[in-house]
Formats: sequence, structure tokens, C-alpha cells
Amino acid sequence: MSFEFDFLVIGSGIAGLSSALKLAKHGTVAIVTKKEKAEANTTYAQGGIASVFHPKDSYEQHIKDTLEASAGLCHMDAVRMVVERGPTLVRELATLGVDFTRTPEGFFDLGREGGHHHKRIVHVKDHTGRDVELALLNAVKHKANITLLENHVAIDLITEHHIFIPTQARGSSLNCWGAYVLDSGKSRVKRFTAKATILATGGCGQVYLHTTNPLIATGDGVAMCFRAGAAIANMEFMQFHPTTLYHSDADSFLITEALRGFGGRLINKRGELFMDKQHDLASLAPRDVVARAIDAEMKKSGERCVFLDVTHKPADEIINRFPQIYQKCKHYKIDITSEPIPVVPAAHYSCGGVVTNLRGETQITGLFACGEVSCTGVHGANRLASNSLLEALVYAETCARSAQHFLKSGNFTFPPVPYWDDQGTFNSEEWVLISHDLLEIKNLMWDYVGIVRSNLRLERALSRIRLIRHEIENFYRRTTVTPGIIELRNLATVAQLIIQAALLRKESRGLHYTTDYPKSDDDYLKDTVIQQQIM
Ligand code: FAD
Ligand code: SIN
Repeated sequence: MSFEFDFLVIGSGIAGLSSALKLAKHGTVAIVTKKEKAEANTTYAQGGIASVFHPKDSYEQHIKDTLEASAGLCHMDAVRMVVERGPTLVRELATLGVDFTRTPEGFFDLGREGGHHHKRIVHVKDHTGRDVELALLNAVKHKANITLLENHVAIDLITEHHIFIPTQARGSSLNCWGAYVLDSGKSRVKRFTAKATILATGGCGQVYLHTTNPLIATGDGVAMCFRAGAAIANMEFMQFHPTTLYHSDADSFLITEALRGFGGRLINKRGELFMDKQHDLASLAPRDVVARAIDAEMKKSGERCVFLDVTHKPADEIINRFPQIYQKCKHYKIDITSEPIPVVPAAHYSCGGVVTNLRGETQITGLFACGEVSCTGVHGANRLASNSLLEALVYAETCARSAQHFLKSGNFTFPPVPYWDDQGTFNSEEWVLISHDLLEIKNLMWDYVGIVRSNLRLERALSRIRLIRHEIENFYRRTTVTPGIIELRNLATVAQLIIQAALLRKESRGLHYTTDYPKSDDDYLKDTVIQQQIM
């Protein structure tokens, strides 16, 4: 089966939906999304969107905080663009119906999070992401030009390597003409051709055993782009969120940093504040600093968690400001108004991804990327809290503008794109291979490529993952595609990219801390870029 659109958007989180809305006036848009439409990291966002609204705050201060959190590695032009464009796009969300929490005077109620020297987090209580996602989905529903397809898993981008053009004839340039997509309801692979493709597939937290990310976060976009020959950067910078609920059934439920902005303090089992010695912002230090301090505290004491204490604040204020967290903890028999919350760090956000320029263009012509899948230069070695939704909004707009220009400038004739070829594959019943490999990858990444790293652990991880990848590739080639095998293959690729990037960085910076090179090397202020040569 074959479909043709002007624009193909892969992913239905904040990045995909926002770009689709902007594109709808310029042509036909298909959004493919691999599960139910609201199943995205976006939906789980709690804290909010960082943006300058307070009269005493300034763009310069937001830029400075972003640079400091990033350990000096972010690209200043990208940061400036995001910070300065942010307020307009946040207001647009409010116009779409997001009912942001307001002060009695009607201004945005601004929260504070780690690394911010000012209150600047616009939020809807502690469920900002859910409300943003629902407002965007509602707006998309009313656009006749947009077709949204659930349970459609992109497998691979369609580029020259699917079309039999000899290397001599095509030179070194690469073009993207859409994607092969598995309709998982019908178990059928469809060919989606498009003049421009926007990749908005989100992050890869599922590569780790403990993560705040939902099951969809399997790094598909990064893996697809890597296979297609695009540059991937800074994958070593996986952000671990310092505070997720420590409870065997809670599945790394996030306890928002906004709770610390509200006055919550990190303590150990003996009730001692341990962040004051680490950073002048104490419990509100940037995430890399707090996650490492918790890790060290747990290793020193032998305890399984630390605690976040907010009991000194009035109970009614806590319940009103953090209703979701209050209810969730209550479900696990923890009353956050009267007892400290047990917390541990978990994998949260990928600062690296598919390299884009300021226009959201990747190195493949006709392919644009925005949101967590991309590496725009905004986050450097450690993302500042609540800068992710902000970056996704701004780059979604930028990508849409670039894609629309691209469409206007081009004289499109699609090359003869073949249908998906599954000859010689069979329906495997060896699903235990998938579940076993998946767990092996997650354990490997958690144990060897976590908050504190070393050459020995990374090299061990690399030799293991190479073997696992090899086996998975063999299995993939022989097996009829399913969501499970697609995701496993992508997770294995992303795991290898994280390990390789970590080995390439011979210093500690931001989220990448290694005992072999414990210091930053300021003469080496570079992104780690990995790219596959396509023949
Ligand atoms: P997502 O929202 O993850 O959307 C990706 C989409 O792509 C999904 O629809 C997915 O199904 C789809 N997809 C993936 N692969 C495929 C495929 N192969 N084929 C088809 N579709 C595919 N950031 C902040 O700035 N502020 C916060 O307060 C905040 N809180 C957070 C709390 C939690 C618990 C988590 C997990 C993250 C939080 N973040 C926060 C980070 C932020 O939510 C994400 O970085 C952001 O939402 C990413 O948006 P996105 O559109 O790029 O990706
Ligand atoms: C949080 O609410 O703590 C998460 C914010 C973020 O990931 O930026």
C-alpha cells in the first residue's frame, strides 16, 4: 500500500503536533504515531515550560542559566533563538486552550526549578504535559489537511539506499522521500512518500532499566537517521532525573523538580541536608550535580534511596499545587504533607540526537528534526530544567517554516520507490529472544553506562552490545517486522551510540562523568559526532 502527502510528520508529541499545525496551511500532512496518539513523553511532563515572563527576569539571564547548566557546550545562537521566541509560542498554547495556572492577578504563576536563577516555569499545576498534549490534539482534529494515523510505526526513512541508484549516479548527497511504516493493527508495511519529512519521535529513556519515560521512548528516530547516514551528536549526555519515586510498583514515577522550587529539600535517612555542601543552589542545583550527589550519598551510606522533604510547607498548598504527585504517593501509602518522599535518580532525557542546524534541517535533504530526537545545540552537556518543551515548540515552528520553503523551492519528482520487501522472512515464535535481549540491554546500560562511568565498564559494555546488535540484526533480517523487533533493533543501535560517544569523550563534562578523566578539558569544547558512511 502506498500513500503520498506533501509533509510526513513522524510522532505526535509536542514537536510533531506543533509542526503539523504550522504546516497544515501549506499542504497535506500525515502524522504517523506508533501507539495511541497521546502516548508520548510530552503527556507525562510535570514541571512546565521555561520562559521569560517575569518583569524582573530577562532573556540574558535565561541564556546564562542555560549555558551554565550545559557545562559550556551549548550553541549560543540556538539558545538565543529558543529563549527569545519562547514567550510568543507559550502564549499561542494558551490561545489553543491550555489553561496555565495563574496568579490571582491573572499572570502566569511562575515556578522555579534546578539551575534557574529566576522563577520562569509556566505550568498547569503538576500536569502541564497532559494539558498541552490534549490541547494540541484537539487543534489537530479540527484541521482538514491533517491525517493522524495511530498504531503506525515508522521503520526506516526512504533514502537513496532503498532505491537502486548506483553511488556514481547519485554522488554523496542523500535525500529523504518519506518512510516505510508498519500499520501494526493490520500487520502491513505501508509506503509513505512525502516531499518533506519531519522527524519528531522523541527520546530513548527505555534503553535504561529505570526511566521516567513511557514505553514509546525507544530512540527510533535516532536509529533510523543513523542507518540513513545522518550525523548523530552528544549521545553520551543522557540526563538522569534526580528524583523519581522509590517504590517497587511505582515504575520510576517522576517527582517534579518544581517541588524543590516550591521549597522541598533533599535529605538523607538521618535527616541531614546533603546538597548544601555541593552547590550554592543546594537542592536546586542543575540536574547533573544533584543526580551525582544523590548517587554518591547512596553509595556512601549504603541506603537504597534519599528523601525529598516538603513537610514544612502548608498541606493545603502542597495538595493544590501538586495534586497528581499527592494522589500518586497517597496510592503508595505515602502522605507527602507529613512524611518525606523516598526518591532515586532515573534516566530521563537524551540531550544528544540527530544533528540539526538553526533551521531544523538535518544533513539529509528533505528531512527535518525537532524535539527530543534532535541535537540542536540548545542543551549542550546537560539540559536546563523545562527547556525541553520550550525547545520542541520553537524548533517545531522552525522546521515547519524550513519544510514549507523547501516545498516551494523544489520541483519534485519522486524516484521509483519500491514497496517494502519482506520476501524470505517468516513469523518467528522466538519472542523470548526479544524480551531477553531487551532486558540485557537495559541492565547493561544501567550497570555500565550510568551516572558514573569508567573506561573499563564502557569497554565491557561496548563488546557486549556489539554482540547483541549482531544477533538482533540477523534475527531482524529473517523475521517479519513487528513493533517489538523494530524497537529492539533501534534500542540496540542507540545503546551502542551512547557507549561509543561516552568512550570518545576523554573528559568529564555535564552529564558525562568518568572516573578515568574526572576533570573537564576546556581546550576540548566539542560535540561528539558519530556518522555512518553510506555506500
Ligand atoms: P514525545 O513527546 O516523546 O513524542 C514522540 C512521539 O513519537 C510519540 O507520539 C511516539 O509514539 C512517536 N514515535 C516514536 N517512535 C516512533 C516511530 N518509530 N513511528 C511512529 N511514531 C513514533 N520537559 C520539560 O521541558 N518540562 C517538563 O516539565 C518535563 N517533564 C517531564 C516529565 C517526564 C515524566 C518526562 C518523561 C519528560 C519530561 N520532560 C519535560 C521532557 C519532555 O517531556 C520531552 O522531552 C518532550 O515532551 C519531548 O517531546 P517530543 O515531541 O520530542 O517527543
Ligand atoms: C520536572 O518536572 O522535574 C521535569 C522537568 C524537565 O524534565 O525539564
